[in-house]
Order: sequence, then C-alpha cells, then structure tokens
Amino acid sequence: MTQDEMKHAVAQEALKFVVKDTIIGVGTGSTANFFIDALATMKNDIKGAVASSIATAERLEGHGIKVFNLNEIEAISVYIDGADESDADLNLIKGGGGALTREKIVAAVADKFVCIADESKLVKVMGDFPLPVEVIPMAANYVKHQITRRIGGTPFVRENFVTDNGNLILDVEGLKITDPKAMETELDSIVGVVTNGLFANRSANVLLLGTPTGVTVIGA
Ligand code: 5RP
Repeated sequence: MTQDEMKHAVAQEALKFVVKDTIIGVGTGSTANFFIDALATMKNDIKGAVASSIATAERLEGHGIKVFNLNEIEAISVYIDGADESDADLNLIKGGGGALTREKIVAAVADKFVCIADESKLVKVMGDFPLPVEVIPMAANYVKHQITRRIGGTPFVRENFVTDNGNLILDVEGLKITDPKAMETELDSIVGVVTNGLFANRSANVLLLGTPTGVTVIGA
C-alpha cells in the first residue's frame, strides 16, 4: 500500500466516527482532504462542518457541504484531522500545513478528536518533525530568542508563508519532546506566541493509523 492509499483508508474509516445530524469539525492537510472527499458521500447525514482553514472551507463547500462559523454554533460532535507526529499517548505535533491555531480551536470545542494518519506518523518520542509555532510577526525575533533560551532547539521562520490569521510560523528543529504537556504550556507562555503545534493538553481521543495491512485503531 502506498502512503496515499493508507491515508485514503483511514479517511474512509473515519466516516464511522461521524455523528449523524450534528456539526462536525474538519482539519487541514492531505489526509484531511481524503476525509473531506469521503465525507461528501454522506453529506446529507450531517448538518454541516466547521473548517480549520480557508482551504478546507473551500473544499467542503466545493462538495456542497455547509460550512458554519464557529461563533454561530453551540457544539461540535467530533473533530477529524491529520497530524505530523503522534506518540503512543496520542499527543500530537500538528501545523505542518500552518493551520495549527484554527485546528487547536476546533479541537478544543469538539467532544471527540479523531486523528487520522499513516503509520509513518507514529513515533516513540516526538520532535523529529520541526515543531510549528504561530507568532505575531513583530514578535518573531523575540520569540526565537525565548525558545532557544527556554525550550531549546533551533527555530526558523517558515519562508514565504503567512497563516490564515496573518501571522508567521516558526519551525523549531532539534527537539526531543519527552514532556509534551509541559512544553506546550511553556511555549504558550511566551509573549507573541499565538499558539504552538503541540496537541498534548488536548490530545486526540482516537488515532486511526493506516498500515500496509489495514487500519489500526488506537484509543477507541
Ligand atoms: C496542518 C496539519 C496537518 O494535519 C498535518 O500537517 C498533516 O498533514 P498531512 O495529512 O498532509 O500529512 O496539522 O496544519
């Protein structure tokens, strides 16, 4: 099975977690795109979706799925999204596509977070994937220095990239994330950080992992 076939398989499996007659949250990225395309087959079973990025909103609407503004709704039954890395406790690194802030907001509102990924994303210790941190542009240098001093690793400004919120992304290389909750909290305490790509204080509830022999369900 190719990586894309594994992503397709987990996207199909995720349909089982869609709660009928509710509004669901939808993530961003290539795996989430497979899910959106699969969701189109049952679009009449849901009220609609909240999107974690402009790109996702456009893809949902392209399939005729109603997209809600988060401020006009009360609840999200389930949030379905990919990840860049997951550890065995379903702590995640997200934000490879730069949508981490909206993703974290939608995940926070959702009753359940189902992560979909191919098996390459499951790691023992997170950090090989550079950790994305969204920053207010004027604070980029300050935040870089603070990260180096307080967290470690080497932050780089993501080139030619502006988030949907008009901010910059720092990608922090060279981390070994042994205490993801503490690191997430410490990063958030740096002035100028909007959000960081560690999803540990709100981790996934379920991980659907694509493998060459099928989908492994972790945490259900
Ligand atoms: C976007 C994300 C994505 O979920 C993450 O980058 C995984 O993407 P893909 O499914 O393309 O591997 O966090 O901000």
